[in-house]
Amino acid sequence: MTSPVLKVSQLTKRFGNFTAVDEVSFEIRPGEILGLLGPNGAGKTTTIQMLLGVVTPTSGAIEAFGLDLSTHREAVLQQVNFSSTYIAMPQALTVEENLWVVARLYGLRDIARRVDDVVKKLEMDEFRQKVTRKLSSGQMTRLTLAKAFLTEPRLLFLDEPTASLDPDIAYKIRSLLKEERRSSGLSILYTSHNMREMEEMSDRIIFLQRGRLVAEGTAQAIVARFGKADLEEVFLNLARESSVPLPS
Ligand SMILES: Nc1ncnc2c1ncn2[C@@H]1O[C@H](COP(=O)(O)OP(=O)(O)O)[C@@H](O)[C@H]1O
Ligand SMILES: [Mg+2]
Repeated sequence: MTSPVLKVSQLTKRFGNFTAVDEVSFEIRPGEILGLLGPNGAGKTTTIQMLLGVVTPTSGAIEAFGLDLSTHREAVLQQVNFSSTYIAMPQALTVEENLWVVARLYGLRDIARRVDDVVKKLEMDEFRQKVTRKLSSGQMTRLTLAKAFLTEPRLLFLDEPTASLDPDIAYKIRSLLKEERRSSGLSILYTSHNMREMEEMSDRIIFLQRGRLVAEGTAQAIVARFGKADLEEVFLNLARESSVPLPS
């Protein structure tokens, strides 16, 4: 059996006496796309922030590529990248300049080649000289994805990557992600509020509700287990159960 790319064991995050992530355990296998699903406030972003070493877990363990994140932070994070709709980039720089800044921060070599590669991959040629402030939301999303691809990661965390894209570009992005995992064995943890997209993209799905992992499996298996028509219905059901007032 191949060892997992990521192994999360009983991961917990408390803010004061509020538990945002509660003893969550899961694995991602090489080349796997794992969907992370859950209503607002379920703990998805907090989980991803712990996986990125940005938020310190209250307890539990995170192992990536066989290394413990808490003791091998740099070695792990070099092979990981992240993209979110909510990322901020220097607004006065052009797309190309932003990519160069990121490449330098990561100490990458062969920067011109890598920048050309991601620009081509994400079809960004017509706006590579554009100032970031003037990008449309779809262009901005492609830039944040380009930033993530630039470092050629083995493991990618995507927090709602297609949230602001028109259907045509969202389709291209999904094809690209699937192609990357096929050609380079990239593993991806993926969140989205689009259930059809989740079903299409994910090899397996984990479902968080109020910080707890309440379901895990293929979309098909989860739908069957909850006795619903589709993933959308499972989601609505769990979201309604969670819609008690949450502490702020
Ligand atoms: N820094 C923080 N301090 C206090 N509570 C937080 C903090 N970050 C997140 N939370 C709370 O943790 C819960 C989970 O949030 P989050 O991980 O952003 O959920 P999701 O991404 O699934 O919508 C929410 O109730 C949120 O208010
Ligand atoms: Mg979130």
